[in-house]
Amino acid sequence: MSRRARLVPAVASLVALALTGTACDGGVQGTPGGSGVRDPYFPKAGNSGYDVDHYALTLDYTPATRHLTGTAVVTARATQDLSAFDLDLSGLHIDSVRVEGKTARWNRTGQELTVRPHDDLAEGETFRTTVRYSGTPHTLTDPDGSEEGWLPTADGALALGEPVGSMAWFPGNHHPSDKAAYDITITVPKGLQAVSGGELTEQTTKNGRTAYHWHSAQPMASYLATVAIGHYDITRTTGPHGLPVLTAVDPTQAKSSAKVLAKIPDIIEWEEYNFGPYPFSSTGAVIDRPDDAGYALETQTRPVFPGPPDTSILVHELAHQWYGDSVTPASWRDMWLNEGFATYAEWLYDEDHGGPTAQQTFTRLYRSDNDALWAFPPAKPSSAAHISDPPVYDRGAMVLQKIRQKTGDDTFYDIIQGWAATHRHSTATTADFTAYVEKKAPDTDFHDIWKDWLYGDGKPARP
Ligand code: TRP
Ligand code: ZN
Repeated sequence: MSRRARLVPAVASLVALALTGTACDGGVQGTPGGSGVRDPYFPKAGNSGYDVDHYALTLDYTPATRHLTGTAVVTARATQDLSAFDLDLSGLHIDSVRVEGKTARWNRTGQELTVRPHDDLAEGETFRTTVRYSGTPHTLTDPDGSEEGWLPTADGALALGEPVGSMAWFPGNHHPSDKAAYDITITVPKGLQAVSGGELTEQTTKNGRTAYHWHSAQPMASYLATVAIGHYDITRTTGPHGLPVLTAVDPTQAKSSAKVLAKIPDIIEWEEYNFGPYPFSSTGAVIDRPDDAGYALETQTRPVFPGPPDTSILVHELAHQWYGDSVTPASWRDMWLNEGFATYAEWLYDEDHGGPTAQQTFTRLYRSDNDALWAFPPAKPSSAAHISDPPVYDRGAMVLQKIRQKTGDDTFYDIIQGWAATHRHSTATTADFTAYVEKKAPDTDFHDIWKDWLYGDGKPARP
């Protein structure tokens, strides 16, 4: 594949050589890829010039010393002729970098690891970069003050990546616009478990250490990758149509979380009825201790909770599997497409289970004196520090209720299911969403909803 892709550019650079007399190894002459993808809130997140297909991460971790040794094999396709490209990595020590088996030069500035391959890469070429690294991974602090990255826990560690924490434990293209498949192998001292997303395909113990190999076939944004190391009670059940359900529960949380976790199959079934087919090949949850993390996260196939969640939070994180994990925001500005939908899922669940209707929840919020709701419009968070604030969650959900008011239930459910189906395993923007809604209900005028509820400053004049 790579040889064929190189042919044409190689001819072009031979011509260039003949014309200019510049020394050249017969390959292409590329230019450096970019050190970010112009995300409006996280400008250094991600990199341009390539698109990752697959990450193979082989990690070895010892909780007692907090030492991590890693090998990341990143298989990517060049989207331009490249002389160099960046990976995002925060902290850790680089032991070596190879591209297509040849030693590569590299240097680091902040979170940018710039790799200069021995041979330039041709647009369209698929290439493998192998980074060997080690050290104690850092816990990072978000712009909103919460902790992410690598979190040491009472008996191990937990990796949480939203929005930019995954660069604390592996080098990659850490922006949601570049999704990829993953194989993650984690080796830990025997007696400990290492849990991740996807399916466990192999587990081997030798020399007092156990390796767990987790396979995620469906594309995943890097902020949704996780590793949970520690003592866990592992339970396997099945959900609708035989969907494998794997829960990993810190033994100190087992009793208090058993009842809520037993609801997972029913919640998935209810969500499939409302949102369409579950988008991944397994599901479940990881329950750590309440002090181990400051929040729950919708890590792909296996959301993480600090202590037992209530039913609403479980419904929320599982709804993200459709809205966020399968349909992923193209930039962090589009975050309300995650949180507005997952919050609306909680409202719908209440409505269908004897609680307030979504309209009643909407009205209660509209009348509440919580000014924080109106601090900024859902589709334009005021800054990176505010992407997890109430306008993104509650006012985002209110946008969906406004659409439902206009379209009625039949079209509304068509819209939320069709949205998940149309952008399944992909990324989407707010503009994609408004265009999709308008296409599904061509005779309805949504202009005021977009203007007042989605993009408008302040509290809309009418509920
Ligand atoms: N996505 C998480 C949820 O709603 C919340 C969250 C955790 C978050 N970390 C974040 C939101 C960082 C924004 C940024 O379940
Ligand atoms: Zn959420």
